[in-house]
Amino acid sequence: MKKELALYGGEKVKQMPYGTGKRFGEEELTQLKEALDQNTLFYWSGNKVKTLCAKFAKMYGVENCVAASSGTAAIHVALGALGVTEGDEVITSPITDMGSIIGIMYQNAIPVFADLDPHTYNMDPKSIEKCITEKTKAIVVVHLAGNPAEMDEIMAIAKKHNVYVVEDCAQSYMCKYKGRLAGTIGDMGCFSLNDFKHISAGDGGMVLVNRPELYVKAFMFADKNYNRFAKSSSVTRVIEYLAPNYRMNELTAAVGIAQLDKLEKICATRQRYGEMITKGISHLKGVYPHEVKKGNESSFWFYMFRIDPKVVGTDTKTFADALKAEGIGCQQGYIPAVVYLYDMFQNKEGYQGTHAPFDSKYYGKDISYPKGLCPVSEEILETAVRLNLNEFYTEQDIQDIIDSIVKVAEYFKKD
Ligand SMILES: Cc1ncc(COP(=O)(O)O)c(C=O)c1O
Repeated sequence: MKKELALYGGEKVKQMPYGTGKRFGEEELTQLKEALDQNTLFYWSGNKVKTLCAKFAKMYGVENCVAASSGTAAIHVALGALGVTEGDEVITSPITDMGSIIGIMYQNAIPVFADLDPHTYNMDPKSIEKCITEKTKAIVVVHLAGNPAEMDEIMAIAKKHNVYVVEDCAQSYMCKYKGRLAGTIGDMGCFSLNDFKHISAGDGGMVLVNRPELYVKAFMFADKNYNRFAKSSSVTRVIEYLAPNYRMNELTAAVGIAQLDKLEKICATRQRYGEMITKGISHLKGVYPHEVKKGNESSFWFYMFRIDPKVVGTDTKTFADALKAEGIGCQQGYIPAVVYLYDMFQNKEGYQGTHAPFDSKYYGKDISYPKGLCPVSEEILETAVRLNLNEFYTEQDIQDIIDSIVKVAEYFKKD
């Protein structure tokens, strides 16, 4: 017999509040005190940023890592070091944070949006290949929500067309593509330490530089193109081209160091919880779990399933509202619209009051971002329900999530 939904006055599934916990503790305090005791908070004089970079590079098994002030900054550093500039096109995902796009446009290049796989929500290699033109300089691959993208296919396309690959791992710490850590496969791998990510230093970013010859370039790009490697003095200012100041400070790095020690456990817990949800809902007709391709591992920054309203018997909003009424933290969809439908793209106004960089002579008049450009991506947002997921949740919380989804799906199922 169908149970009455809490949305319509029935008893709600979730009776206990979600598990919570403290992200920061003595470990962070100890590191912060050490940072202050150095009597400098400048990254080049102190030891914390250097230690964070070395530790992160070691965890990922790569040689070189550059720190930055945010995930957005990390991606900009990667693109700047790769020489992305006016006249270039950079292929990326339409379901992402603006942080994936900002660096492209600050280099006066323009983003070109590839469509997504309907169930992993990552860029579809076939669509990427269709977006390639003679102007393509790089692909910013967004590994969405902890789930690795199809890197073999993407790297093959990049090699064939001689374009760079920057992995946007802001949401994807410790996630594995066929056993390899995302962030170590492309030319650069970029991470975010903002407060909403697997680990937090308030704000901050990391760039794994997988091409040794680009390390100094990336390092300098995060620091106004000042060269601190010259032996003759502490800094030389032979500025060849424009670069921002995205330096990380010692306090941020101190917190980051302590957070890194917690990372593997956090990711393992989220992976386990994500896999539990998939197992618990995959029998439901018209409900499509967040797909992780066979052989890959997701660290589930969030869990987003989709519904087919015709099969399920209700629309996405009602489904999400019903789950909320059961006590489940969730929302319909993810970002409000695919990125190319934001005003900036519709009005082609990258900088206030001008049409730069879209009106650059290099691009001609034919750039447009119409609705329907990436139909799968638009459909994903219309039919997705995003569940909050947290390493502090208990197994009972996860069971409550599963039970609620099953209850709602059973309720609306046509007999
Ligand atoms: C996929 C993705 N890329 C980039 C960023 C930018 O990171 P930050 O907020 O640290 O600048 C985010 C942050 O939300 C993100 O989710």
